[in-house]
Amino acid sequence: MKSTTREIERIHDRDFRLMISPEELHERTVAMAKNISEDLAESDPLVLVVLNGAFIFAADLVREMSFDPEMQFAKLKSYDGLKSTGKVQMQLPYDDADIPGRHILIIEDIIESGLTLNAMCAKLNNNGAASVRLATLLLKPNCLKVKLEVDYIGFEIPDEFVIGYGLDYNQRGRTLQGIYRIEDEA
Ligand code: IMP
Ligand code: MG
Repeated sequence: MKSTTREIERIHDRDFRLMISPEELHERTVAMAKNISEDLAESDPLVLVVLNGAFIFAADLVREMSFDPEMQFAKLKSYDGLKSTGKVQMQLPYDDADIPGRHILIIEDIIESGLTLNAMCAKLNNNGAASVRLATLLLKPNCLKVKLEVDYIGFEIPDEFVIGYGLDYNQRGRTLQGIYRIEDEA
């Protein structure tokens, strides 16, 4: 563990300010894992982790769950720098034949427009999944462009660009232990 959490971090050309501390992240992750375990342990869900951003959150979340799920990793990308491109690039890891009748838990880092997960849920439902549940660390509720039912939410945050704990700004900042929000340009 890095011993210090700084209030301000500079990544590329921008400053970011601490928004959610490592301790708060840990506490919330443990609580989410407990809820998920109570709801889903019996149905042996296939856990789909959305890469890249969710890798750290997912690693912490699944190790706090009471069961040992099958895990797959989907690579989705809709962001370039600080902005959403509005287009979702999807590389899904599983065999379509594995989905019918299967309960699914998707683990995501952050939901903004919801377009990324909406596309993924539609595909899983079309393939005959028994149920699809969503767990996200962060949700920007004011940015949702589609109606999306999110079952497990870590924190609701304002419409600000954030990094850390897996989330990046042009591929940097992922190893910060807290969540940091971008500072306004001076
Ligand atoms: P959506 O499809 O608009 O919901 O976008 C979700 C994806 O965009 C997330 O999985 C992230 O990869 C990326 N994203 C959205 N907001 C942020 C942010 O504030 N920081 C870093 N990545 C973000
Ligand atoms: Mg993501």
